[in-house]
Amino acid sequence: MNRHLHPALLALPLFVSSPWAQTATTLRDAADAIGLNFGLATNSYQVSNASSAYAVAAKAQFNLAVCENEMKFESTENPIGKFNYSGGDQVYAFVSANKMKMRGHNFVWGGQSSSAQAAVHDRASGLSILKTHIDSVGGHFKTKILEWDVLNEITNDGGSGGLKGIFWKTNIGDDYADSALVFSRRAIGNNGYLYSNDYSADGVNAKSTSILNMAKTWIQKGVPIDGIGFQCHLSTGINKADISANIKRFGDIGLRVSLTEIDIKQATTADWTALMGACLENYNCVSFVTWGLTDASSWIGSTCGCLLYNGSTPVPKTDFINALLDAMAHADPAVTAKRKEFIQRTPGTTALYARSAAFRTPSSGWLGAAAVPLFSNGPKGAVDILGRNQPVAPRSPWAAGLGILPQ
Ligand code: XIL
Repeated sequence: MNRHLHPALLALPLFVSSPWAQTATTLRDAADAIGLNFGLATNSYQVSNASSAYAVAAKAQFNLAVCENEMKFESTENPIGKFNYSGGDQVYAFVSANKMKMRGHNFVWGGQSSSAQAAVHDRASGLSILKTHIDSVGGHFKTKILEWDVLNEITNDGGSGGLKGIFWKTNIGDDYADSALVFSRRAIGNNGYLYSNDYSADGVNAKSTSILNMAKTWIQKGVPIDGIGFQCHLSTGINKADISANIKRFGDIGLRVSLTEIDIKQATTADWTALMGACLENYNCVSFVTWGLTDASSWIGSTCGCLLYNGSTPVPKTDFINALLDAMAHADPAVTAKRKEFIQRTPGTTALYARSAAFRTPSSGWLGAAAVPLFSNGPKGAVDILGRNQPVAPRSPWAAGLGILPQ
């Protein structure tokens, strides 16, 4: 504990350098006012002492948390069939005591999944392990999680498109991603939003375009997807226009965007303002999550200059925090109003809006294409043993309403 700083001071209103008056004095209040989730990645040991400087700052400044590691595959199911929810439960206890929200990270990844990797050896074992994991972990946390990173880092780098050759893909086939989304919707119902989350896709580039195309295919097939996560592991020199344009094109197909793992190496005030500005310009940008509280415990290293606090007893970087407060206080009210409406949409119906809009204007291209089978996984036309070619439950309202899905 830093002897000179009482923890409560970290939560006090910060000096405001802007010429405008601030209405909110914490990042949390400022974000609440504009319908934005403002989050941090954390670990149970960091929030176990509610009066620590860390915990006091976390609950004062953030309205959302995500487990940095403790809800990953090898933390929650290791070995296969043996489940452990204690880290996630402890973080949730902190979240719930402080009326915050929570993201779930993650079900399917090539990393930190050693227990799955050791047990998956072919398509059948892969699908079975995938489904059991999602049913179990999703079932346990389903009423506690707002946004789930169902899929993490699945896309090939560069513009080649397609899925990375991780063990889920090599054992199950490309349709593992569709299956994970379908299993997730069934396991959690409409309690949370389903995401695919990736890195180096923050701006408009070949990789983000391949993610966009993948998302369009999911929507077209009726595979449940609500949002895309951009990790935003970035370096100084943030290009606001580029990131904003990328967020927008996902909004145009009805999807939420969350900036899920933000750290900006050697960041300046201008970088933080630019990244927040890119989010604020888009009603579908709903979550802004920093990957940790303080540089001292960043996965990148304590000299990264990449988060909003530094020091092992966290000290706020007031210039950055004031810049974010200022940006949020001056968000365009019209965009804020749209975001507040958008975030009310029930999970599972998000992309319905894009489908119906595009249905009215078939010239927009991709929705004009012929319908494809509801799920392309499993042998064509056969009823899969896992029931993946049955309709997703709860049945999406679009299936009844729009008449553009195959029956
Ligand atoms: C990182 C954690 O921050 C580290 O503590 C851990 O050792 C490795 O994983 N992309 C992701 C995150 O999706 O889960 C990773 O988190 C960082 C990169």
